[in-house]
Amino acid sequence: MKKADIGLIGIAVMGQALALNMESKGFTVAVYDMNPDETVAGFISGRAEGKNIIGTFTLEELVSRLERPRRIMMMIRAGKPVDDYIEKLLPLLEPGDILIDGGNSHFPDTMRRCALLESKGLLYIGTGVSGGEEGALRGPSMMPGGSPAAWPYVKPIFQSICAKTEDGTPCCDWVGENGAGHFVKMIHNGIEYGDMQLICEAYSILSAVGFTPDEMSEIFRGWNKTELKSYLIEITGEILAKKDTDGTPLIDKILDTAGQKGTGKWTGITALDEGVPLTLITEAVFARCLSAAKDARTAASRLFPRPEVKFTGSRRECIEDVRQALYAAKIISYAQGYDLMRAAARTYGWNLNYGGIALMWRGGCIIRSAFLGKIRDAYAENPELENLITAPYFRQALTELLPAWRRVVAAAVTCGVPVPAMSAALAYFDGYTSARLPANLLQAQRDYFGSHTYERLDAPRGQFFHTDWTGTSAATAGSYTV
Ligand code: 6PG
Repeated sequence: MKKADIGLIGIAVMGQALALNMESKGFTVAVYDMNPDETVAGFISGRAEGKNIIGTFTLEELVSRLERPRRIMMMIRAGKPVDDYIEKLLPLLEPGDILIDGGNSHFPDTMRRCALLESKGLLYIGTGVSGGEEGALRGPSMMPGGSPAAWPYVKPIFQSICAKTEDGTPCCDWVGENGAGHFVKMIHNGIEYGDMQLICEAYSILSAVGFTPDEMSEIFRGWNKTELKSYLIEITGEILAKKDTDGTPLIDKILDTAGQKGTGKWTGITALDEGVPLTLITEAVFARCLSAAKDARTAASRLFPRPEVKFTGSRRECIEDVRQALYAAKIISYAQGYDLMRAAARTYGWNLNYGGIALMWRGGCIIRSAFLGKIRDAYAENPELENLITAPYFRQALTELLPAWRRVVAAAVTCGVPVPAMSAALAYFDGYTSARLPANLLQAQRDYFGSHTYERLDAPRGQFFHTDWTGTSAATAGSYTV
């Protein structure tokens, strides 16, 4: 009986698309799903008909149909289902077999699972797969990490099914040990949150200025021919042009409450754990939370009505200013995301290839953009780059974009148009480029009430001082009483 090159568990939309993609590249795929009678049978007699795709109806059957070492990829919901399948598969597998999780798993879970499988002589890969159904079918961006010994067995399949850059480079390469692949996918998703929020803020400003969805569609289409060229800008142009059945813009009828599945939140939590100021992405997560409080917002909007602002300036200049502000803030978002990757790489002992990661995101994934080529170049020039904004290309770009960025944030704040991501990015930029911040006062306050000590500008770093601020030994005394 013919053996399959790889087994796929979970054949919902993404799983089906990946199976078809693998088969189209010459691999034989065995598939299994938790509802085999319905899903497997339906797939085999439907989209998979006549193809080298083998339907299996038990896990034992799936395992028995695979070449050794077995490669089994799970395309299932993150969380407990992954642990449940691992538990069921462990007794069926043999040393050297490879289990792959292609869902959006939280990287600490992947680290734990990788250690568990390796302790039993098995190999584990946690891989990010980005690009939605279309990407999975035609070429996703893939970010695999886990047991290094598994990579040579998985590489030929992954690098033939993934997206390719214009010069043919696969948008998939080995990221690093244990949870590194899922960590990088988490950062990708965080950046996705940031990019989407920035686009929404640009849309919000342009709407406040008075542009119609059709006009904005044209604006975004125009921006897609500039440095902003990206998948998300492209689909925004299309979304804004879309009409409802009555011929009016569909966008105006969509409820303004955003959902989220958790990867953006994890990115923010990891940033707090690492002490990295990932302000833009975190604001993007909070913006979704705020959007979800629709009833409370509607009630509060009646308590604080905003006067209508009439835009009287040049519409052409306004469009260009907003474009530049969006671009500047986007640079900050990626700078912060890369900063978090560097910090986590130190914590977890990963040897991340930052330029390579930009290349993996260059095609196939949701954040694919021309801009990532510039990031790849920046790390090719200096692999030890401390912060993306200091790379010559981005330094020059930010210098040019700064005046428009300040104008846009100032105007939005004055008019009451919320721009949390654009403004947080600007505050970060101003903070990061300030040799002196008011933390001197903060340290004094901490020392005043808690004897936390402080360092001095006129003494070597690492030498700590305490002042008796009140002239008494009771450091917390002060004169403020309630
Ligand atoms: C991708 C996407 C994908 C998914 C996100 C959406 O790379 O293809 O990131 O993974 O669309 O999970 O996340 P939210 O539901 O949290 O927006």
